[in-house]
Amino acid sequence: MRFILPDLDKIVLNLKSKSQGNNPAFMKNKIAQLNEKKAEALLGGGKERIEKQHQKGKLTARERIHFLLDEGSFEEIGMFVTHRSTNFGLDKTKFLGDGVVTGYGTIEGRAVYVFSQDFTVLGGSLAEAHAQKICRIMDLAMENGAPVIGLNDSGGARIQEGVVSLGGYADIFYKNTLASGVIPQLSAIMGPCAGGAVYSPALTDFIFMVENSSYMFVTGPNVVKTVTHEEVTSEELGGASTHSTKSGVTHFTSENELACIQGLKTLMRYIPQNCEEESPQYAYEPSDETRPSLNEIIPQNPNQPYDIKEVISATLDKDTFFEVHKDYAENIVVGFGLLGGKSIGIVANQPAFLAGVLDNKASEKAARFVRYCDCFNIPLLVFEDVPGFLPGTDQEWNGIIKNGAKLLYAFCEATVPRITVITRKAYGGAYDVMNSKHIGADMNYAWPSAEIAVMGAKGASEIIFKREISSAENPEAKWQEKEAEYAELFANPYNAAARGYVDEVIEPQHTREKLIKAFGMLKNKAVKLPKKKHGNIPM
Ligand code: HXC
Repeated sequence: MRFILPDLDKIVLNLKSKSQGNNPAFMKNKIAQLNEKKAEALLGGGKERIEKQHQKGKLTARERIHFLLDEGSFEEIGMFVTHRSTNFGLDKTKFLGDGVVTGYGTIEGRAVYVFSQDFTVLGGSLAEAHAQKICRIMDLAMENGAPVIGLNDSGGARIQEGVVSLGGYADIFYKNTLASGVIPQLSAIMGPCAGGAVYSPALTDFIFMVENSSYMFVTGPNVVKTVTHEEVTSEELGGASTHSTKSGVTHFTSENELACIQGLKTLMRYIPQNCEEESPQYAYEPSDETRPSLNEIIPQNPNQPYDIKEVISATLDKDTFFEVHKDYAENIVVGFGLLGGKSIGIVANQPAFLAGVLDNKASEKAARFVRYCDCFNIPLLVFEDVPGFLPGTDQEWNGIIKNGAKLLYAFCEATVPRITVITRKAYGGAYDVMNSKHIGADMNYAWPSAEIAVMGAKGASEIIFKREISSAENPEAKWQEKEAEYAELFANPYNAAARGYVDEVIEPQHTREKLIKAFGMLKNKAVKLPKKKHGNIPM
């Protein structure tokens, strides 16, 4: 494959030819020397290694930046930085830039800071100078209140440099943690990320991975085989599909690098520059906001599933739902969308998957998302149709108590505008957890199909009318009678509305207009949490 970056060949040639001019002027010679060095730096680990990178279907560090940022906006910092090590012949293996391209630019006109690891230089491995370059970018991003985007492609700690590599990683981890909740931090994994290389992305807000060419693992397949005798491929151990479905480490996967880069740019549209700002307001022409299709979605049989994503799409501005963690814990749906041109975070139970039950994975997934939105002033919209928490030893032994508490905690401490729409079931503890007004939601709407109670009518009647049912002449008929009685009383939104727990029972088709008005009403919401160092979220 030829250079994909359109002008790289031309730029390098141009820089070199300029340096061959025979002009005696002092500055001209100096400029020639500069251009020689620039040309060298642009080639990273050299043409051969670039060719190898392309043969693997991967872009180079600079090509990735080229596609990520607005044309011509990139300004590089630290192009001539090199390592200072002499270990294991490293003094003879020096590359300008030390395996990471760093700088700043814009995406749709908004400032971002970027680092992009160059696998053609010592496998993108990280050591002292490489780490210092990344730290500098992070410092600048923090001081100037703009997101940091890391494009990761690294064999991990540079083995030849020993402990300074570990120190370099730790410096980055520390800065990642201090920056958390202050500026958005986005990570794309675009090659191997082994060992320490995984922990910086893990500390950032969102991870993107590319299918079949990116891997994340603390220890690779060889170490796994030695220690646990498991035979596993890199893809199975830490590929994009593993981390999007099994571990939940990655939030997004893409089929190739360009799609991954597009994903980063799309996400940027929904988030603000920092925790002091709001996300951008996009052009929006108010018109008829009624959505008649919403009146047709809820099935007559309360046990029949439907797709909550239809409700989400019909409510949001057209084609603006951007789902996060799509393939992980599908019983809860989270993502960003625009409502009246403004970004909101959506958390929704999914009746089409495990009946929308809350379990360990769903609770953690939603809790993390709620906290992200709250960090960055993104209002929250909850669609609720939840039969309760999933029972069983698997759930209990894996900590549904602490994981459910994470979601509870996340909602309780969120101070952004928060609205809930109960479409159907809101049962048991899950009613409380899913952004009820008791834990700080600002508005709670219910559709007429809502059922808000301690538990479903069948189970409830069995417990409270146990004696009556068992002593009846026809217990089955009695049970049905009592079940109907309970359902009549509680399987509706009106008891909750009578208490003010539900603010309004609305026709589904009016949901969008109600939400636009309510979020507008809440736009100056200012709530302060009690003074504290930080809370102690159940981990
Ligand atoms: C120095 C490295 C390197 C590393 C790769 N290279 N990893 N150099 N330190 N960690 C160099 C190779 O020598 C080679 O140099 C070039 O990068 C490309 O590597 P290849 O092996 O040819 O590429 P590939 O076949 O694609 O395999 C990529 C790889 C493999 C899977 C990443 O290189 C690998 O397993 N590397 C080691 C991974 C690792 O164990 N890292 C340390 C983790 S410990 P040339 O000159 O030939 O181009 C860690 C601790 C930190 O990170 C903990 C902090 C909490």
